[in-house]
Amino acid sequence: MRLSLRNRLAAVFFAINLVAFGALYMYLAPGLQDRLIGDRLHELAAQAERGAGLIVPAAGSSAPISMVRREVDAASLESGARVTLLLVPHAGQTAHLSILADSSNLAASTPLAFSAARKAIRSTIPTTATESARGQTVAEAAWPVTYQGRVAAVIVFSAPVTDIIATGRRVRHETLVAGAIGLLLALLGGYVLARALERRVKRLELAVGQVAAGDFESPIEVDSSDELGQLARAFNQMQHQLGQLESARKKFIATASHELRTPIFSLGGFVELLEDDDLDPETRRRFLEQVKLQVERLRKLSVNLLDLSQLESGTLELRPEQVDLGELTRSVSGEFEPTLTGHDSHLELRFTQRTIEALCDPVRVAQILRILIDNALTHTPPGTRIAVTAARVDGHIRLEVRDDGGGIEPDALPRIFEPFYTADDAQGSGLGLAIASELAECMSGRLSVSSKSGHTTFTLELPT
Ligand SMILES: Nc1ncnc2c1ncn2[C@@H]1O[C@H](COP(=O)(O)OP(=O)(O)OP(=O)(O)O)[C@@H](O)[C@H]1O
Ligand SMILES: [Mg+2]
Repeated sequence: MRLSLRNRLAAVFFAINLVAFGALYMYLAPGLQDRLIGDRLHELAAQAERGAGLIVPAAGSSAPISMVRREVDAASLESGARVTLLLVPHAGQTAHLSILADSSNLAASTPLAFSAARKAIRSTIPTTATESARGQTVAEAAWPVTYQGRVAAVIVFSAPVTDIIATGRRVRHETLVAGAIGLLLALLGGYVLARALERRVKRLELAVGQVAAGDFESPIEVDSSDELGQLARAFNQMQHQLGQLESARKKFIATASHELRTPIFSLGGFVELLEDDDLDPETRRRFLEQVKLQVERLRKLSVNLLDLSQLESGTLELRPEQVDLGELTRSVSGEFEPTLTGHDSHLELRFTQRTIEALCDPVRVAQILRILIDNALTHTPPGTRIAVTAARVDGHIRLEVRDDGGGIEPDALPRIFEPFYTADDAQGSGLGLAIASELAECMSGRLSVSSKSGHTTFTLELPT
């Protein structure tokens, strides 16, 4: 049978209380009565010792028996116990004890076997004991009186302990009733508490189900600061982040499809126009030029989207090797010569060392450099000066692409690494820097930007 959290918690509360009550009862019930009787015996023994101090001299002297009886009565009056003076006619024999004096009316008093006195005669030392007589339990303290080396008499102080036994019984009964009420309350309290806990856990379970079903809009109410409250707060935070991720994903898909649709529609339109047989060669050439441009745009977009999805899913494979970054920079810059000429720009290469060796994936480093140089040409006016610097600094490699093309607006600066973000009307798709920064992170490096007073510098730092 599967126990619910509520029932299990209620059962645990109940069990803990049962054990606590059981321990209390085991300590109280038998122990209390014995301890109280022990106290009474102790008290009687002390009284017997005091009483003996008065009775023994009177009994030992030649004073009349009435005098001894008076002392016995006085000791009884003082102590509140029954005092009996027993004579031991034969040495060490406990069978024939005779009562010489008794503080109580012998006819009305409980006939005792004087078991404490018999023990005291045998052991010759003061002794205590309890005995039952006529349905009563009596506590006794016996004080042996020795004469010429033998126990000649015994003084017995006795008192019934029926009241103690009744008190013990009553305490046991009351403890049982109180315990039963306590246990019932514990069971009830445990159940209510467990129910409240279960309700809060259920609420979390429900919310998890909602998130699993794609609902990121319903946060859980945080009603306490305990562990469950903290869990609810963490859950709400996670839900918020998941919601943000989900909306970013939707935005990405919407933008990507829009970016793909634009050149495809444009291509469709030009193909339709080109079907017209009456087109003059010049217009046809212009249309074909546009078709080429849109095809190139589509090609770049699809390659970029593929790269970005591989980077974000972590499936991009790096092939690191020992590379001379000076050589690599020179080669990538060379690829831009025709564009540089068309743009009337000048690209300067600066190397701080003759060889700048590093262990990295040359294809991916070249890709980042291409993105940065392409930007420095695309988003700047003609005639812009560009400088590419490669250096080894503090144990890592630093590649810089700097241009003095007017800079990036401070508002746009924090967003330029977002996919599809463009800060100007250069018709880019806004994927270049997103890919470059993801690539840098993938190689345990960092791509950063600074743009001040008309100069823009992109810095790629890589571990060696
Ligand atoms: N060197 C630069 N000077 C001025 N603005 C820049 C420079 N580099 C990037 N930017 C700005 O940052 C934006 C994002 O650049 P990114 O390379 O990600 O996209 P893109 O160049 O517009 O398009 P894509 O590279 O995908 O063709 C650009 O649209 C541009 O506004
Ligand atoms: Mg770009």
